[in-house]
Order: sequence, then C-alpha cells, then structure tokens
Amino acid sequence: MSFRIAILGAGPSGLAQLRAFEAARLAGTEIPEIVCYEKQSDLGGMWNYTWRTGLDAYGEPVHGSMYRYLWSNGPKECLEFADYSFEEHFGRPIPSYPPRAVLRDYIMGRVEKSGARQYIRFNTAVHWVDYAEETGKFAVTVRDLKQDELCTEEFDYVVVATGHFSTPNAPYFEGLNQFPGRVMHAHDFRDACEFAGKDLLLIGSSYSAEDIGTQCHKYGAESVTFSYRSQAMGFDWPDSFTEKPLLIKVVGKTAYFKDGSSQEVDAIILCTGYQHHFPFLPDELTLNTHNRLYPEGLYKGIFLEKNPKLVFLGMQDQYYTFNMFDAQAWYARDVMLDRIILPDETAMAADSTDWISREQKVDNPFQAIDFQAAYIRDLLQPTDYPAFDVEGVAEIFKQWEHDKEADILGYRNKSYRSTLTGTLAPVHHTPWMQAMDDSLETFLSEEPEVENLALDAVR
Ligand SMILES: Cc1cc2nc3c(=O)[nH]c(=O)nc-3n(C[C@H](O)[C@H](O)[C@H](O)COP(=O)(O)OP(=O)(O)OC[C@H]3O[C@@H](n4cnc5c(N)ncnc54)[C@H](O)[C@@H]3O)c2cc1C
Ligand SMILES: NC(=O)c1ccc[n+]([C@@H]2O[C@H](COP(=O)([O-])OP(=O)(O)OC[C@H]3O[C@@H](n4cnc5c(N)ncnc54)[C@H](OP(=O)(O)O)[C@@H]3O)[C@@H](O)[C@H]2O)c1
Repeated sequence: MSFRIAILGAGPSGLAQLRAFEAARLAGTEIPEIVCYEKQSDLGGMWNYTWRTGLDAYGEPVHGSMYRYLWSNGPKECLEFADYSFEEHFGRPIPSYPPRAVLRDYIMGRVEKSGARQYIRFNTAVHWVDYAEETGKFAVTVRDLKQDELCTEEFDYVVVATGHFSTPNAPYFEGLNQFPGRVMHAHDFRDACEFAGKDLLLIGSSYSAEDIGTQCHKYGAESVTFSYRSQAMGFDWPDSFTEKPLLIKVVGKTAYFKDGSSQEVDAIILCTGYQHHFPFLPDELTLNTHNRLYPEGLYKGIFLEKNPKLVFLGMQDQYYTFNMFDAQAWYARDVMLDRIILPDETAMAADSTDWISREQKVDNPFQAIDFQAAYIRDLLQPTDYPAFDVEGVAEIFKQWEHDKEADILGYRNKSYRSTLTGTLAPVHHTPWMQAMDDSLETFLSEEPEVENLALDAVR
C-alpha cells in the first residue's frame, strides 16, 4: 500500500491505533507503512512511572504525571479492551481496582500479543509537523534523543496521540512566591510519604485533588484542606479533611479563603488540571480546547475539520478510557483505509455542532457518562471492533459514582462484573486503606498485607 502514517505517542491511544491496523493486517488487509514516534524509552504513556520531574535525561519535558501508590480511580471493568479481557491476560479474575503497575502490565500484554512494538521508534521526540497543500503531505520533524539528531519524514496522515494530562495548568495565587513550604503542581507529585505529618492545601476539586488528598491521608498526612473554585466535592470526608472555597492569598504559612476563613498549611499542591499543549503543531493545525467531552473542531471527536488527515485520539475528558481510544482508533483506521468516507467540511461542522449542543445540556456526571457512551456507540457502529456492552459499562460507571458517594475511602474495596466475561471480580485480599504496597506481585498474591494491617492497628 503506497501511503504512510505517523503516530505521535505510544501511550494507550497510540497503541490503540497500532493495534487497529494490526487487527486489519491479520484479517488479510494490506496496511500502510506506519511509524510511531515515542519520546520515552518504552511504551505505555502515562502508565510508565518515572521519578523524574521537570526535564527528562535529554532535556525534554517529563511526560509522566502518575505517582507511587496510584491505584485505578475507576473500576477496571470500565476500561477493559473488548479484544483482550483481564482474565485472558492474568489467567484468572482479579479485583476491580488494580494499582498502576497491574494496569500497565495489562496494556503491555495486549501490545506484545499483537506485535505492535516493531512500529515504534523509542527515544524519539516529535518537534514539528508541517502540512504542504501542494503535495497533500505532512513533514514530521523528530529528534532522535540518543543520537541528538533531527530528521524529517513525509507522511500522508498524522495521528496525534500525545495525551493531554502532562502540561500543568498552574494558576498563581498571591503570596505563593514567598510561601515557606513546598508548592508544586500535581504533575510533579510523586510520593505521598513526603507529606506524612504535614498539613496540606490542595487547590482544585476534581480527580487529582481527590486522589492525591486521599493518598496523602493514607500515608500519614496530618490534615488535608481542599480549596475549590466552582464546587466542593462534597464527599463524606473523615475529620482531618476540610473543603474551603477558593484560596485568595497566602501570607507566610497562612492561607486565606474566599469565605474569610484562614488556615495554617505546610505545603500546597495545585491540582488544577492540565493544558492541551501541542508545541509541535503550527497554529493552523493545532487543537485549542479545554478538558471537555466534545472538543470543538474535531469531527467525531477525532478528525481536524480543517484538515481531516490530521487525526487526534484521546483528547476528550475521560470517563471511558482504553476502550474509547480503541473505538476512535478503529474508526480512524477505517477512514484511512477508505472504508468510511468522511463528509465535506460543512457537514462535519454541522455534526460536531449537534454533539456540542448535546454536551451543553449535560449537567451531572450521570448524564456525562451517558453522553460518552452514546459517543462511543456512534463510533463503533460502522467498524468491526469486537462487540462490547457500552451501556452495560455506563451502568458500572454509575454504580461507581454511587459507591464513591457512599464511601470515598472505601469505594476501591468494591467489586464489579466484567461485561466481557460475566465474571464478578474477587474482593482484594487487603482493604485499600491498609494496602500500602502497590506492586504487581503483592496485588496478585493471595496473602493479605498482614504487616500493614498491624501497622494500621497501631496508628
Ligand atoms: C495522574 C493520572 C492518573 C490517571 N489514572 C487513570 C486511571 O486510573 N484509569 C484510567 O483509565 N485513566 C487514568 N488516567 C488517564 C490516562 O491519561 C489515560 O488512561 C491514558 O494514559 C491516556 O492515553 P494517551 O495515549 O491518550 O496519553 P498518554 O498516556 O499521556 O500517552 C501519550 C504518549 O505520547 C508521548 N509523547 C508526548 N509528546 C510527545 C512528543 N512530542 N514526541 C513523542 N512522543 C510524545 C508520551 O511520552 C506518551 O507516551 C490518569 C491520568 C493521570 C494524569
Ligand atoms: N488515581 C487515579 O486514577 C487518578 C488520579 C488523579 C488524576 N486522575 C486522572 O487525571 C485526569 C485529570 O484530572 P485532574 O483532576 O488533574 O484535572 P481536571 O479533572 O481537569 O480538574 C481540574 C480541576 O482544577 C480546577 N481548576 C482549574 N483552574 C483553576 C484555577 N485557576 N483555580 C482553582 N481551581 C482551578 C478545576 O476547577 P473547576 O471545576 O472550577 O473548573 C477542577 O476542579 C483525569 O482523567 C483523572 O481521571 C486519575
């Protein structure tokens, strides 16, 4: 086949694209030449843990925002690949909320099985993408980080799968410059043990605030204060947690809030989200959006309407993750293989307008889940991605919302039934609050963490 595709990034989205083409190849379809550029030394994207913050060994921005002791914040049954169940990978049922290393292992398992690794050029950072109207081709300029060499190659399609949870949105609050303790963004948070015995202030009221706050509590923080801009999380927090309106300023170690209250804090973590950041794209090719369910200007949430040969994967706010990236990748593959013909730009824009008006009517998480389910269903319909019960997964997400509401520190002890295998996940050997070791070996072992149970009893 005489055309070439560049995939930028080998995280779950980029890997979904590779897997989609591999599935077509194995089914006897001739596939285009594919090159996947990945700046890290291995695949897995955000699921690779790194101790580094700031710049990596080659001076590139560190991609990773994950931290030690990170456990999935949603049931694994909601992100299961339709063509590769957890049971197939682990050879037996496992509990519903695995730690990071276990999910990474699962991601790796599908990739190794599919042979997608051969397409990836590791330690290669994408620095610039240009499009020439005359030739209808993209020029992708990358730096081989080990050799410290730039090179440019031409492609017919470019798939941007570089993620959007890496470049911090870090607002300034008066007095932060003089704050005598640690100030950091969630992107640089690595180890909750650093904050044992400390009084913490976390700005933000979404997943990072909730999860970093509960992690720090679990590993011994004295108190956790959340400061929200729009809405408090409103969970039934233990006594050492407080939710305050937005921070106005800090003077010395004292934080002052919008409601006139104040509090002494030892460290401040900005859990204020991330920017969609594409420093390698010129203005006419870039995607300008915040973290929302249906980014503007992307037909089917995937194709840049101005130039649909530029494909974006995983750019939405995410309830569904791995299986949504698959749905997008299968659809994008079928467009690139001419199995699905895109409408003209006006029709694409009209379709997006329709979805965006539906998104604007969403005003609670349950409706957001249904919206994303409908979006995925729409993508799956014309492709041969293996059947999966999108609505059944939506019901699990809704149960998860209720379980969090009921017990924010205990919801990870719950079990859900896989919509693929029908198996109800076993209960983990150690309740999440006592499970201090997040290694794959300990998670998969049959033995409870006795030592930690004892420690907890002492505390
Ligand atoms: C703290 C945190 C916790 C999360 N927890 C969960 C969870 O529990 N469950 C869940 O389902 N999802 C979770 N997520 C969401 C997570 O982002 C997705 O699961 C998934 O990793 C997104 O995949 P992606 O491939 O789109 O992006 P990423 O995983 O971010 O991968 C992007 C890849 O692109 C590469 N890249 C970036 N720029 C360049 C460049 N210029 N050149 C070359 N390569 C580049 C990166 O190195 C990376 O490998 C979490 C996210 C964060 C930040
Ligand atoms: N264990 C886990 O699995 C885990 C842990 C952490 C994160 N994650 C994932 O990481 C992703 C990102 O989550 P996130 O919480 O970092 O980002 P997010 O969901 O985009 O939320 C950003 C938060 O920052 C607030 N904010 C933004 N600008 C602000 C400002 N200027 N002042 C005050 N507050 C401001 C927002 O408030 P408003 O509501 O006012 O906009 C919102 O509460 C999610 O997909 C999540 O699932 C997962």
